[in-house]
Amino acid sequence: MAAKISPSILSADFARLAEEVALISDVADWVHVDVMDNHFVPNLTLGLPVVEALLKHSALPLDCHLMIEDPDRWAPAYAEAGAGSVTIHAEAAKAPIRTLRAIRAAGARAGLGINPATPVEPYEDLLDEIDMLLIMTVEPGFGGQKFLDVVLPKVRRARQMIAGRDLPVWLQVDGGVSAETIERCAEAGADVFVAGNAVYGADDPAEAVRNLRARAEAASAGRTG
Ligand code: DX5
Ligand code: ZN
Repeated sequence: MAAKISPSILSADFARLAEEVALISDVADWVHVDVMDNHFVPNLTLGLPVVEALLKHSALPLDCHLMIEDPDRWAPAYAEAGAGSVTIHAEAAKAPIRTLRAIRAAGARAGLGINPATPVEPYEDLLDEIDMLLIMTVEPGFGGQKFLDVVLPKVRRARQMIAGRDLPVWLQVDGGVSAETIERCAEAGADVFVAGNAVYGADDPAEAVRNLRARAEAASAGRTG
C-alpha cells in the first residue's frame, strides 16, 4: 500500500487550526487529531466540540486518536460526528470489541492503539475488528519527543501478523516520526505515518509532508518482508 501521511495538529497553532490544516490539505492524506483528557495521559488538548468545528473546515478526513480514560463512552460520538477514523487505546478500553464495532457502525474506520510497552500479540484475534493498528513510538501525551527505536521489532511483528491473515489493516506509527526516522518505520512495515513536530515545526509544512512521503515510499519499496 502507498504510504499515507497524517500530520498531527498537536504541534500546530491551536488558535488557527483551520488555517494550519489548510497548509497541508493538498499534500497530506489525513489530519491526525490528538484527543487527551489528562487522565489516560498527563496532558489536556481538545475534545468533541473542537473536532466538530474542525470537520467543517478540513478538506481532509480527520484521524482522531483518543488518548482518554473512557473511550467506550466517547469514541462512537467522534465517528457519528463525521471523523474518518477513530482510534481507541487497548490499555483504556474495557469493551474494545463493542466500541470498535460501534465506530464502524457509525461509518468510520476503527483503530486500536497500543503504547510502547504493550505487546501486540494479545490483539491478534482483534485484527478482524479493526481497520488500523496504531503502534505508539513514544509514550503518549506530548509532541516533539524522541523516537523509540525499541518499538520497531513490534512494528515488524505486527506487519507479519497482518500479512499472515491477509487483512487490509493499516499499520500506523505515531511519535517521533521525522525525516530521520520514517525510513526505519516504513522498512519495518508501517504504512501510515503520523508526524507532528516534523511537519508543523518545519518552515514549510507542505514541503515537509512531501519529503516524508518520498522517504517512506522509497524505504517501503525496499522492504523485504
Ligand atoms: C503523542 C501524540 C502524537 C504527537 C506526535 O501522544 O499521539 O500524535 O502529536 O508528535 P511528534 O510527531 O512531534 O512526536
Ligand atoms: Zn497521536
